[in-house]
Amino acid sequence: MKGAILLEYGEPLVIERIDAFELGPKDVRMQVEASGVCHSDWWAMSGLYPLELPVIMGHEGAGVVLEVGAHVTRVKPGDRIVAALYAACGQCWHCVRDETNLCDHHPVVHHVKHSQRAQGDGRLEGLNGLGTFADEMVIDESMAVKVETDLPGEQLALLGCGVTTGVGAALNTARVKPGSTVAVVGCGGVGQSVIQGAAIAGAARIVAVDPTPLKRDVATAFGATDLVDPGDGDPVEQVRELTGGRGVDYAFEVVGRPQTMMQAYEMARRGGTAVMVGAARNEDVISFNAFELHHEKTIKGCTYGSAQVHRDLQMLVDLAEQGRLDLAAMVTRTFALEQINEAFDAMHAGTVVRGVVVP
Ligand code: APR
Ligand code: ZN
Ligand code: ZN
Repeated sequence: MKGAILLEYGEPLVIERIDAFELGPKDVRMQVEASGVCHSDWWAMSGLYPLELPVIMGHEGAGVVLEVGAHVTRVKPGDRIVAALYAACGQCWHCVRDETNLCDHHPVVHHVKHSQRAQGDGRLEGLNGLGTFADEMVIDESMAVKVETDLPGEQLALLGCGVTTGVGAALNTARVKPGSTVAVVGCGGVGQSVIQGAAIAGAARIVAVDPTPLKRDVATAFGATDLVDPGDGDPVEQVRELTGGRGVDYAFEVVGRPQTMMQAYEMARRGGTAVMVGAARNEDVISFNAFELHHEKTIKGCTYGSAQVHRDLQMLVDLAEQGRLDLAAMVTRTFALEQINEAFDAMHAGTVVRGVVVP
């Protein structure tokens, strides 16, 4: 078994041999078919979220169950599964209220150390209880979601984080209505998924806002009707101009910065909704004009696209198989595990919608 390990913040990942411990009663050992490279990996590698180093990176993966612990009932060897970014135990206070994305069990499984370095004494944490930049990984049963599909692994992997977050933000968090107007600030893997979700929901206008030409080009193929380059002037003004001076019904921030969050808030029309999909840093603060609360705007936070994974992941698979959700075009390029640092370079250069690692 091998994995891409972060030894020090800000350093390139290192591929090492790793060994799994004996399976706990609720553990699932899976073969990782593929793993998407998401921007949150990079935030974590830069030291923006506290991790117990060393850690196996990667949190967006799918694969096949190899072996299960004695008390596992949800999946069995041979099942195809998506490794959900958030645990969904199905039994806690949040889970029984259709809020599995906020599952109380998640912090428990988040830091469980399932493996160890072949050389060295360190027990290893997998990022977020996962660690998908590996050929195999062990996860808690609450993160293993069975799906029935023949979709290629590199497409299925995207359901682990980005696509589920983005499509879910449109369908679940915002509940975009048919005929409505939408702006999406930041059109990376997650933002393009918001665009696809808004198109599935029947939005009439979808404005894609991104400084990178490639991202604006592909946004059109995913359903964007208008493109805004923030380099051409204030993006808020540009979006307002496109909507009769009014602003949009729903504005999504999918970058993770206070400045763009503020822009999304200002792009929303009076009575409209701004959804903050991007994950900001711990110390970030946004402030807004208190008097403008009279404008009845709604600001919504967003965890994992409010996804109820046991309901939504198979639905996303079905949409993809029917050609209504384009996963293939999301995967610009695949990389071997040994090329993991190149995959991050491609993400920074803006040359991929999603780079996917196939170990
Ligand atoms: N305005 C609009 N778009 C911007 C701006 C800006 N000022 N600055 C950067 N962007 C765009 C980038 O060009 C890129 O296309 O934001 C996009 C970010 O995309 P990715 O790097 O692919 O990131 P992604 O994986 O989509 O994640 C975005 O969502 O879930 C969160 O933690 C994740 O905060 C991250 C965000
Ligand atoms: Zn992610
Ligand atoms: Zn739960």
